[in-house]
Amino acid sequence: FNVPDPVNEPVLNYGPRSVERAALKAALDEARAQQIDIPMYIGGQEVRTGKTLEVRPPHDHKHVLGTYHEGDASHVHASIEAALGAKEQWENMPWEQRAAIFLKAADLLAGPYRAKINAATMLGQSKNAYQAEIDAACEFIDFLRFNVHFMTQIYAEQPVSGKGIWNRLEQRPLEGFVFAITPFNFTAIAGNLCAAPALMGNVVVWKPAPTQIYAANVIMEVFIEAGLPAGVINMISVDGPVAGDIIFSHPDFAGLHFTGSTHVFQNLWKTIGNNIHLYRTYPRIVGETGGKDFVLAHPSADADVVNVALIRGAFEYQGQKCSAASRAYIPQSLWPAVKEKLQRDIAGIKVGPVEDFENFVNAVITEASFDRLAKYIDEAKANPEVEIITGGSYDKSVGYFVEPTIIQVQDPYYVTMCEELFGPVLTVYVYEDSQFEEVMNIIDKTSPYALTGSILSQDRYAITQATQRLRNAAGNFYVNDKPTGAVVGQQPFGGARGSGTNDKAGSMLNLLRWTSPRTIKETF
Ligand code: NAD
Ligand code: ALA
Repeated sequence: FNVPDPVNEPVLNYGPRSVERAALKAALDEARAQQIDIPMYIGGQEVRTGKTLEVRPPHDHKHVLGTYHEGDASHVHASIEAALGAKEQWENMPWEQRAAIFLKAADLLAGPYRAKINAATMLGQSKNAYQAEIDAACEFIDFLRFNVHFMTQIYAEQPVSGKGIWNRLEQRPLEGFVFAITPFNFTAIAGNLCAAPALMGNVVVWKPAPTQIYAANVIMEVFIEAGLPAGVINMISVDGPVAGDIIFSHPDFAGLHFTGSTHVFQNLWKTIGNNIHLYRTYPRIVGETGGKDFVLAHPSADADVVNVALIRGAFEYQGQKCSAASRAYIPQSLWPAVKEKLQRDIAGIKVGPVEDFENFVNAVITEASFDRLAKYIDEAKANPEVEIITGGSYDKSVGYFVEPTIIQVQDPYYVTMCEELFGPVLTVYVYEDSQFEEVMNIIDKTSPYALTGSILSQDRYAITQATQRLRNAAGNFYVNDKPTGAVVGQQPFGGARGSGTNDKAGSMLNLLRWTSPRTIKETF
């Protein structure tokens, strides 16, 4: 197939006097000066209900960026009808035509929309410029371009034929519509959860997280400018359970593309299971959910590597990544050096609003999230067996700021070693050097999740041991690196256990879930 070779989009650096920084600053200023009014997008129409809610930056919650319109059950019905109405024409469109739309969307994001979508992600989700660039620009662009590449591979795969018999595989879209539900923390994930099924010829109803609506609006603008026909992707702002009640009891519901928390996904799966008799076809259920990701340092590890893996793994985007390092196991012999480096470097980390590019840590997403994190920190402070190594303070007077906090515990089963916190809080357990094997057993036992994890070691035997023993504890396993930052096409991403169905975003495996192949045997 003659399509452009996928190449990962280069990450721009936004240095102090760069043209990129100037363009991004201008986009931030423009966005802050406006009061945008975000509609729903149903059947190619902008829908406004008049029932509006405000959008505010988490790092500056007194400032109103704009409003969005909340819909009700009637808008859910309308979005399903719009999707089903668009279905026949869309699925019969030659795949090259569908691909052209998403490749153009990628080019728009790489060029004229880059500053706008980064600014929207910075302001709406409180992501710093570098984090926004690798998410809203590069990862989103990569998803779109690599998906086209994976699609051509899927279409090229054909069964064996022989004299007098010609066997074919026809990749059909699912019989019905796909429901995409997306989390607040990645703009790229939101774009991909809609774009991947649509590229394969499906029609989509999309419910973004309300805390992501500001960037979600730019995603729709890009898709529309790229030429996406009306009704193929319909974005609704409707309360989750209201949307779910209607969609999960619709006979044409054919797939759920979900990213979010484990408990929400499990409840949705139960509803789908209870309603299974209602559907024309067994729905595809793809969910990427929570994580409690670990960093295990072996006594042979390099203390500088441990320091960087922990700081970047735990505190980039305020630890609000499903992949964030949130529990670390450090050997006694290495701990004094690692602790000193962590305390030194974290003291230099700046916390504050995204508009100041020097701030590495920005605000957490909501007041509810802030309060939950503050509670964990207060409990740790009150516990005589727990020591706060760095940070420990928080302030929500202007924005929801939590200092990068490291808690050292004596009990490897302490609550913050086991539960997903989703914030800039890392818990460290220091183990006796001779207990490396026991600590691996604890890592495996203490988490119902299995998303990401790292082994840091210069000893090949220890690396081998950890890779084998922790085989089921992470779907993305890193050797001598932080456990975050998977790149599309390079590290297919996803985990099992409570972390999801492991359909590997950024790979052919995910796209395969959005096709229902038909085998055709022709005899001559
Ligand atoms: P969340 O579960 O609170 O919300 C996710 C989405 O589900 C939102 O759009 C929300 O409005 C919607 N929702 C909630 N209840 C619903 C219901 N009853 N019916 C229909 N929709 C409903 O998650 P979040 O706080 O936005 O995101 C953080 C979570 O996402 C963390 O647990 C994180 O680990 C996970 N996550 C996982 C991955 C991954 O690849 N594994 C990636 C990103 C985020
Ligand atoms: N894909 C994102 C990462 O690897 C979540 O950090």
